[in-house]
Amino acid sequence: MPNTINENKDQTKDSNKYHNKPYFYSDDTSLLLEVVRNLRGKRCIEIGSGNCYILEELSKNFEIAVGTDLVKPSSKKNGVEFFLADRATCFRDLSFDVSVCNPPYLPSDSIDDIATDSGKDSEQVMKFTEDGMRVIKEGGSLYILISSLTNQKKIEEEWRAKGYNITQVKEKKLFFETLYVYRLTKENKK
Ligand SMILES: C[S@@+](CC[C@H](N)C(=O)[O-])C[C@H]1O[C@@H](n2cnc3c(N)ncnc32)[C@H](O)[C@@H]1O
Repeated sequence: MPNTINENKDQTKDSNKYHNKPYFYSDDTSLLLEVVRNLRGKRCIEIGSGNCYILEELSKNFEIAVGTDLVKPSSKKNGVEFFLADRATCFRDLSFDVSVCNPPYLPSDSIDDIATDSGKDSEQVMKFTEDGMRVIKEGGSLYILISSLTNQKKIEEEWRAKGYNITQVKEKKLFFETLYVYRLTKENKK
């Protein structure tokens, strides 16, 4: 996994390998936007913010809204702070009230397109989840989008095995897949 934009890669029009173009607005962006419109708080992070459409919406209702991606957005959006960074690795534990992500969720043998390929066993989905959960405070939430193509049931089991409380908050059926947004919280320590 590259830890910065791959500007030296040989990019051709036909190749998406380690693409350095921001992710286009899509059905998944739109579904997650519907969820984040209702969120409020002090600090939030979007991990893998693409072209920052979701981050821009978050910035309306949070005092601080930061986003990270390995690819720079195509234009600067109002009210958002963007970091060219690997997931949330540059932030300390327990820094945010809310984290949000639409990770690369398609199962794949290798990572050819960092926007969509999750690798074997949905490796990227789990890495985004773990980082997203690490940076939220006690009582905070992670909102994450996955698809029926991600092997949703297996991911749910892995989340539960890590002790996360999970709630499905949104669903959208498309003709080739169903998209789901989940809210994950940390189990209360007694
Ligand atoms: C499915 S796209 C979602 C983009 C945007 N959040 C949206 O919903 O439109 C996944 C994003 O994750 C980014 N990404 C992939 N690996 C990453 C990593 N290790 N750290 C940060 N961002 C990453 C990709 O560049 C891409 O922008």
